[in-house]
Amino acid sequence: MELDTPRLRLDALRPEDAPALFAYRADPAVSRFQGWCPASVAEAAAFIARQAGASLDMPEGWCQRAIRLRDSGELIGDLGIHLPAQAEGSIEFGISIAPAHQGQGYATEALRAVFGLIFGRLGRHRVHASVDPRNLASMAMLRTLGMRQEAHHRESLWLQGEWVDDLVFALLAREWHASPSTH
Ligand SMILES: CC(C)(COP(=O)(O)OP(=O)(O)OC[C@H]1O[C@@H](n2cnc3c(N)ncnc32)[C@H](O)[C@@H]1OP(=O)(O)O)[C@@H](O)C(=O)NCCC(=O)NCCS
Repeated sequence: MELDTPRLRLDALRPEDAPALFAYRADPAVSRFQGWCPASVAEAAAFIARQAGASLDMPEGWCQRAIRLRDSGELIGDLGIHLPAQAEGSIEFGISIAPAHQGQGYATEALRAVFGLIFGRLGRHRVHASVDPRNLASMAMLRTLGMRQEAHHRESLWLQGEWVDDLVFALLAREWHASPSTH
């Protein structure tokens, strides 16, 4: 999957991305509420290697994509898309933006392009994301994208040595098509 937006390019992660990926993914500002935090550049490189050949044609897999500045090619983040085996199933996603590049609308720009693909060309029905209720930046981003909070699971996940709550946000295709202001 390759997508261009006005400022970004979404494409495959490359072996040479490992140091930059490690730098922002290991930063507590990014890893605080996430299930995966690389312990070394080598672990980041292994993560990238496991993604070689990943595509949206691989159901039940996570397809992880690089988020790059279009002008310079600099890696500023990554996003993962999970396609369930059944074509009718809901698509889950997650996204990380390097702290130096946060607050500039990059996450919403990247995800709007991904939603355009999911609800347009792929013709899927629903997307959802899981978020820790303490993750205010992520919840703000999901609401900017027009997503609704559907569930609050109490202490449903064991993450980084503690039980944490899990909010589910979702968006239906018809809601996306009916709200062009969020595109
Ligand atoms: C969540 C995250 C991806 C947002 O990336 P970003 O590029 O900074 O987001 P955007 O600039 O597109 O902002 C989207 C909306 O969220 C708001 N927002 C962003 N950071 C915020 C913060 N720290 N506090 C409150 N609101 C915030 C923005 O103001 C914007 O809302 P607006 O359009 O009404 O102004 C980023 O903070 C991040 O990588 N966090 C760590 C990883 C993580 O927790 N990922 C979530 C997994 S789903």
